[in-house]
Amino acid sequence: MFDEIWYPTDKLFIDGIWADASDVLAVEDPSTGKDFTTIARGSAGDIDRAVTAARATLNSDWGKSTALERGRILARIGQLVLERTEELARIEARDVGKPLKQARADAVALARYMEFYAGAADKITGETIPYLDGYTVYTLREPHGVTGHIIPWNYPMQIIGRSVGAALTMGNACVLKPAEDACLTALAFAAIADEAGLPKGVLNVVPGLGEEAGAALAKHPDIDHISFTGSVGVGSIIQATAAQNIVPVTLELGGKSPQLVFEDADLDAALPFLVNAGIQNAGQTCSASSRILAHRSIYDQLTEKMAARYSALQVGAALDDLDVGPLISARQKDIVAEFLGKGHDLEKAAEGHVKAAGGHFIAPTLFAGVPPDHTLAQDEIFGPVQVIIPFDTEDEAVQIANSTDYGLVASIWSQNGARQMRLAKQISAGQIFINNYGAGGGVELPFGGVGKSGHGREKGFEALYGFSQLKTVAAFHG
Ligand code: NAI
Ligand code: MG
Repeated sequence: MFDEIWYPTDKLFIDGIWADASDVLAVEDPSTGKDFTTIARGSAGDIDRAVTAARATLNSDWGKSTALERGRILARIGQLVLERTEELARIEARDVGKPLKQARADAVALARYMEFYAGAADKITGETIPYLDGYTVYTLREPHGVTGHIIPWNYPMQIIGRSVGAALTMGNACVLKPAEDACLTALAFAAIADEAGLPKGVLNVVPGLGEEAGAALAKHPDIDHISFTGSVGVGSIIQATAAQNIVPVTLELGGKSPQLVFEDADLDAALPFLVNAGIQNAGQTCSASSRILAHRSIYDQLTEKMAARYSALQVGAALDDLDVGPLISARQKDIVAEFLGKGHDLEKAAEGHVKAAGGHFIAPTLFAGVPPDHTLAQDEIFGPVQVIIPFDTEDEAVQIANSTDYGLVASIWSQNGARQMRLAKQISAGQIFINNYGAGGGVELPFGGVGKSGHGREKGFEALYGFSQLKTVAAFHG
């Protein structure tokens, strides 16, 4: 255990009570490879109790709460998160190996989600629809009911903010199943929400294994909506499971996001974005930019500049707060190492330096001159690995950009306004950045994918439509 923790880490949070689970799981610090605490191993029975508790709140005060009241609670949660930024950052750094400044940014983003949705809560309106003579027709936005949230380990605080935050705003009651590798800040969030006055049972947190607690939540017959962020394989299982109960799902499944750098780009302005989007959170980011498409005329210059940056990158323990931390687990390190092995036929342009031992560290690696159909240019690696792919024409750049199974984020680096507009339409992705790149940034910006990146939109006002359903009321009054 360590000083920052002010809530029980090895319990379930169900119906506003910290309850024991029948078993616990060890929690490892990825920076050392050593276990330092335990979390609850939630069971199908625990999930069932959580769903029942959530359901009951819909028939009590929470079900009758006004948007204003919900907004005020979210505002208080946001305030408490901000006050606890430092503790939350240190807990997250220890739990998932994220360098401190990145963990701090996650805590601030969680607060921002609460602030944004606090303000948005009473600004979601319906519409009136012109209809037949003697009628007044209007729409109401209502909560789904009980929403299930299965989240990954890479950005727990941000993903709680964007999914649980939006769901609560619309008056849903939530059951959250955090990833087994990253439960501590989810439990902190439960403690903070409780302190902020969120009624008991409205948010339940059940840590546990994916195939146990996660699967039980996805298939529970009394869940009305599932949001999932994670791998394509599990996303596909979740969607199939939800189909049995005919409930809507939001899936956010990662990507192979490209940045297109043209001959007229400001390379020095682009450089920090190009590299950071690949190494942020050690590349374990759904919206990481793992492909850099470079016009042949600037390809050498760009490769040289990126290589220089890579050679200066330092990898170390999260609390040492270097450029890159460890990967989440030995398993994730094995996955990334296997991909690096598949790059043996490629030109390695540069790599960073591992400054620590014992944790799941891997040197960030930049490959150049990569053919667009190479495994490293097609598959999501989820590690600090980027490939540079040269192109000759704008059409070819678009064709390469659209050549993977994914479509989450893309960016266009060019001063040519017509090209910016043209490509923003032609590139398949849920978000397009022009002369910048926001890996997950911007709570205001609707976010989600096409293709194997998933479907549904989170963040911004758009998420509030996703976490509610529309009812049409047609009144005849003569
Ligand atoms: P995962 O998809 O297994 O885990 C994500 C969440 O799903 C966790 O909470 C997990 O407990 C839960 N889960 C696992 N199996 C489940 C099941 N059968 N039913 C219900 N819930 C289940 O991801 P994992 O194994 O941690 O990472 C493997 C790969 O997935 C990564 O290398 C990366 O490529 C991708 N990934 C993508 C993420 C993204 O942000 N889009 C986040 C995490 C992983
Ligand atoms: Mg951990």
